[in-house]
Amino acid sequence: MSTYKKRTHTCGELRKQDIGKTVTLTGWIDVRRDLGGVVFIDLRDRYGKTQVVFAPQHNQQAYDVAQGLRSEYVISVTGNVEGRPADTENPDLPTGEIDVVGKELAILNKSETPPFPIEDEIDVSEDLRLKYRYLDLRRSAVQKNLLIRHCAYQVTRSYFDRNGFIEIETPILMKSTPEGARDYLVPSRIHRGKFYALPQSPQTYKQILMVSGFDRYFQIVKCFRDEDLRADRQPEFTQIDVEMSFADEDDVFRTTEGLIAELWKEILGIEIARPFRRLTYKDAMELYGTDKPDTRFALHIADCSSVVANSGFRVFSDTVRKGGVVAGFAVPALSNYTRNQLDGLTDLAKSLGAGGLVYFKHHSDRIESSVDKFVSPDEVKAIAQKIGSKNGDLGLIISGTWQKALTILGTLRLEMASRLDLIPEGHWNFLWITDFPLLEFSEDDKRFVAVHHPFTSPKPEDVPLLDADAATARARAYDLVLNGNEIAGGSIRIHSSELQSKMFGLLGIGPEEAKQKFGFLLDAFKYGAPPHGGIAYGFDRIVMLLTGQKSIRDVIAFPKTSSAMSLMDDSPSTVDKKQLDELHIRIL
Ligand code: AMO
Repeated sequence: MSTYKKRTHTCGELRKQDIGKTVTLTGWIDVRRDLGGVVFIDLRDRYGKTQVVFAPQHNQQAYDVAQGLRSEYVISVTGNVEGRPADTENPDLPTGEIDVVGKELAILNKSETPPFPIEDEIDVSEDLRLKYRYLDLRRSAVQKNLLIRHCAYQVTRSYFDRNGFIEIETPILMKSTPEGARDYLVPSRIHRGKFYALPQSPQTYKQILMVSGFDRYFQIVKCFRDEDLRADRQPEFTQIDVEMSFADEDDVFRTTEGLIAELWKEILGIEIARPFRRLTYKDAMELYGTDKPDTRFALHIADCSSVVANSGFRVFSDTVRKGGVVAGFAVPALSNYTRNQLDGLTDLAKSLGAGGLVYFKHHSDRIESSVDKFVSPDEVKAIAQKIGSKNGDLGLIISGTWQKALTILGTLRLEMASRLDLIPEGHWNFLWITDFPLLEFSEDDKRFVAVHHPFTSPKPEDVPLLDADAATARARAYDLVLNGNEIAGGSIRIHSSELQSKMFGLLGIGPEEAKQKFGFLLDAFKYGAPPHGGIAYGFDRIVMLLTGQKSIRDVIAFPKTSSAMSLMDDSPSTVDKKQLDELHIRIL
């Protein structure tokens, strides 16, 4: 039995047609205005706000209690719905045509003064918001993000269910997976000195589910990676994880594009054109200087190596001779950039690892370059032509190794687009990046590491390269990029244990280590593994983009800070000695 009157309506529900009804509302005091002789409150719950009026002539007792109400008190109020006088209607509020005239009022709980107002626009540090996350989550702007997240779960589950995918949970306490980040480890109490790892992804399990014949799997799943955090990275984050048997790239792409179209249609009411554009990794790097290009603006990079191969400017000709590139792009109508601004850009390029930045200003009568002393006017003209520079443009040129020069240009490209406000809102540029390299050389470890992960299949035509020139072998790996954000990644897998062992060999994982780390997967592959492939979508990033947020922290109920702390419950925290003893752990 409830000790207070239960609500008959929510705070977002009442309209003109309810006038005359006796209703009960429950919720939090959003605002209280005491006008002397009459008290107005806005009562809030997650559905909206309703104005309630207390006055002695309606009910003296309720009026007396109302005078003591403060922000964030929880109340139950019963009264009559009345129309507001036309001049006091609030068109911004769905309930703005009515008032509830309070006749009975019960305070269900009091509140201390909150450390910040529960309003959409507040000017307080994120740390304070995260410490009092329960109050932050009361703000409708934050609630809206989580409601959209909720819709995204429902659309996702329904989509995969209708398309024959089965949702299967995989363990959280498991053996380490090789996604390339550091593991979060969980010590075993029962098995002294042994550890579980939290999944960086359910990669090995979903492949095993294919061996077991489930054919099509999906899971909305938490993943854990101990890596440096950024606005789009959390130590625990959510993936929509997918695996399909007897599938190739086109099947994975079609399935993905269907999901994306449905999410954008259901949540934003927007039709997304399909199929999505595809670009190889090589083309993406050479045109945009990144494997996650923002294609909402041009500023295309062009290779100038051929026109400077014999340059008298040794920086250019030596770079080309050593197999590097000289490349750049033209920034429209920026030939009036000042010396100071150009010095700033040079410093930025250097901070990214460039030896320097070559620039030219394309005037109507001549092209003035920062290397006029070393490079002939004809050569500068040829460079300008290569990068499509026109009268009035600024040309930016970087030389270096392929990877480094292009990556620096990619960052400069984004920087110039943001300075010039070239990035249009309301565009959804989905883009597949394909044909990633299979391996990259790790200077730290002095060995190859897998660009995607060790289970990714090489392209069939590149398998012979594994013996001849492994660095040039391409993978059947793909990423999905949206407006410069990597929102998904996956691959077609290796399904033969011989090829898998060979891959481990290339990665410097010997047979013993492979057996110890992934023996279960290699064993499983011996019992009829179907060809299979899959993908995982960064769910938080997708919701961040759907809600127009700049950080995934804004779409996660209880996120960690950039130093992996939870300020609300103060974790990580120390534990009792007894707990450590049971786990056979000593803190050094
Ligand atoms: P991958 O490592 O590319 O692939 O991850 C898939 C997607 O997950 C998102 N993501 C993250 N989001 C927030 N915080 C993080 N720390 C974080 N790390 C990754 C990205 C990324 O595109 N097992 C493979 C998938 C497969 O091969 O099927 C995997 O996990 O949006």
